Amino acid sequence: MKFTTSPIIVALFTFTLANCPGIFAAPSPVPVAERLSVRVPTPGDCVSLFKFTRGVYHGTQDQSCVNLVENCRFTVADNNITDIWGVKSCVAAATCQGVTPLIEMVQCTQNETGSNVTVPDASQTESLDYNIYASIVGDCAWQEGGCPITQQNYIDFVYGTLSDIATSTWPDVNNVITNWWDYITQWTATGETVPYLNFNDWLHYSNSQ
Ligand SMILES: *[C@@H]1O[C@H](CO)[C@@H](O)[C@H](O)[C@H]1NC(C)=O
Ligand SMILES: *[C@@H]1O[C@H](CO)[C@@H](O)[C@H](O)[C@H]1NC(C)=O
Ligand SMILES: *[C@@H]1O[C@H](CO)[C@@H](O)[C@H](O)[C@H]1NC(C)=O
Repeated sequence: MKFTTSPIIVALFTFTLANCPGIFAAPSPVPVAERLSVRVPTPGDCVSLFKFTRGVYHGTQDQSCVNLVENCRFTVADNNITDIWGVKSCVAAATCQGVTPLIEMVQCTQNETGSNVTVPDASQTESLDYNIYASIVGDCAWQEGGCPITQQNYIDFVYGTLSDIATSTWPDVNNVITNWWDYITQWTATGETVPYLNFNDWLHYSNSQ
């Protein structure tokens, strides 16, 4: 898989391991991946995430993604929100930043701003708000059986959300397709389109980064 060979991801993963003392000091029978998926970021992780990872996905930096991440993390932190997939900019940010770093950045921000709640790790988040899903796919969302997200739906969603947040910069559509959308369809393995349940699973279990 492409993402496991990205130098940035390898660096982040190494950094993460090095900062999890239990792994070296006292080996535990719990699998490493499970430990990492439930740990709250340390202050050092937070500094590194904001400095090196924000807006970078699969080795490509995009300023419009930074804008989505910024809107997401402050919306969630300033409003004491726990339901991250009930915030449109967070859903869009997850697709351009990766779910794992986005949630960590939100957790860091909630801690920094003194929020009285914290979003849970991805696997424990609430399901994607269906109204947000409907805003992506259109009225067919409400027909029996719903309808899946097409590539064009996704592109419109990204640009529409950037417009909502009054972004200062726009992404290259080729990056939106090949670096953001294609990674979702690869993971869901549902062909050219992605139904609600599969996209919801991607948000919960892809560990994308
Ligand atoms: C969270 O905030 C507390 C107090 O402000 C600080 O001591 C701690 O290092 C912070 N943790 C993270 C992960 O930023
Ligand atoms: C969020 O929680 C903090 C800490 O309890 C509180 O001071 C602040 O007013 C809350 N903000 C909102 C929008 O409810
Ligand atoms: C957080 O703060 C808000 C506003 O002060 C309050 O309404 C809410 O009940 C608090 N939530 C928790 C989990 O303490």
